[in-house]
Amino acid sequence: MDREFTLEIARVTEFAAIAAAKLRGKGDEKMADQAAVDAMRTQLNSIKMSGTVVIGEGERDEAPMLYIGEKVGAGDGPEADIALDPLEGTTLCAKAMPNALAVIAVSESGGMLNAPDTYMDKIAIGPGYPEGIISLDAAPADNVESIAKEKGVNPREIGVCILDRERHTKHIDSVRSTGASVHLIQDGDVAGVIATTDPTVTSVDMYIGIGGAPEGVLAAAALKCIGGQMQSRILINNSDEEKRAIKMGITDVSLVYKLDDLVSKDVIFSASGVTDGSLLNGVFFQEDRVFVETLVMRSNNGTVRRLKTEYKNFI
Ligand code: FBP
Repeated sequence: MDREFTLEIARVTEFAAIAAAKLRGKGDEKMADQAAVDAMRTQLNSIKMSGTVVIGEGERDEAPMLYIGEKVGAGDGPEADIALDPLEGTTLCAKAMPNALAVIAVSESGGMLNAPDTYMDKIAIGPGYPEGIISLDAAPADNVESIAKEKGVNPREIGVCILDRERHTKHIDSVRSTGASVHLIQDGDVAGVIATTDPTVTSVDMYIGIGGAPEGVLAAAALKCIGGQMQSRILINNSDEEKRAIKMGITDVSLVYKLDDLVSKDVIFSASGVTDGSLLNGVFFQEDRVFVETLVMRSNNGTVRRLKTEYKNFI
C-alpha cells in the first residue's frame, strides 16, 4: 500500500461523492446510494489490487454490488480488505442536509473487524488523552467529567456529539447534567466520531451512542490514522442479527472492542464530502467542472491529506 495507492483510494471516494451529489435533495435515498455504489465499484475495479469487501452494502443475497465477500480490483496488486460506505448518510443526501460522505477504509488482509450489519454502542475521543480515560460502561456524565479534568476546563466547556434518537434520551440528559453541550446530529456518525479529533474547530470532544456497527469500524479506521480512542460493543436485537454476527465470527457479544481490535493493521481511510459539513465541503458543480474535497490518511505514517480536487470536462 504505497503513496500512489493512497491517491487511487482517494479517487474512489471522490467519484462516489460526485455521483451521489448529482442526486442531492431529490428525495430518493435509494437512487443516490445506488449511484454512489456504481461509481465506487467502477473506480475500485480499475485499481491494481486483489481486494475483498469485508464491510459493504450487505450480504451477497441482499446486495447486488459491493456485497460482503465480493472481490474487487483489477488484480495483480496487493491483497487488501475493504470496508466501505459509498454514501454515509443516505437521508442527508436525499434531503440535501449537511455531512453526507462517501467513505472507504482499506487495510492489509485481516486488518479490520468484520462487523455484522447490526447496531454498535460506541464512545470515542480524539488524540492527546491518556489511555483509559473514558469507558463505554461509565455514565456519560462521568466520561464528561474525566475529559474536562484532563483538559483542565469546566465540564460546561465540553461538547459531546450524539445521534438524535429517542434511544439516546438518557445519554443526553446525563451529559447535560454536567453543564456540557450536546451536539445532536440527524445521521452520519462516522463524521460525528471524526469531529472529536479537532475540537478547536468542531467544539466536539467526545462522541457517544448507538449507531451502525459497520460505521463504527469505518470511524475507527479514521481514528487509527489521526489518533484517538474508541470503545465499542456489538448489539444484538434478534435471532436474525445473532445469526449474522455468528456468521462473521462474533460469538461473544459482551466483548468491548477497542480501537486496535476494530482496526488491527495498517489502514488507509478516505472520505469525500457529498454535502457541505463540519469535516468537508460538499461537491460543487460549475459548468463543465466539478470540485470535490477529500480527507485521505494512512495509519502507518500518520499522514493526513486534505485534497481539493477539480475535475475538468466531467460527465
Ligand atoms: P445510512 O447512510 O445507511 O442511512 O446510515 C446513516 C446513519 O446515521 C449512520 O451514520 C448511523 O450509524 C446509523 O445510520 C444509525 O442508524 P439509525 O438511523 O437506525 O439510528
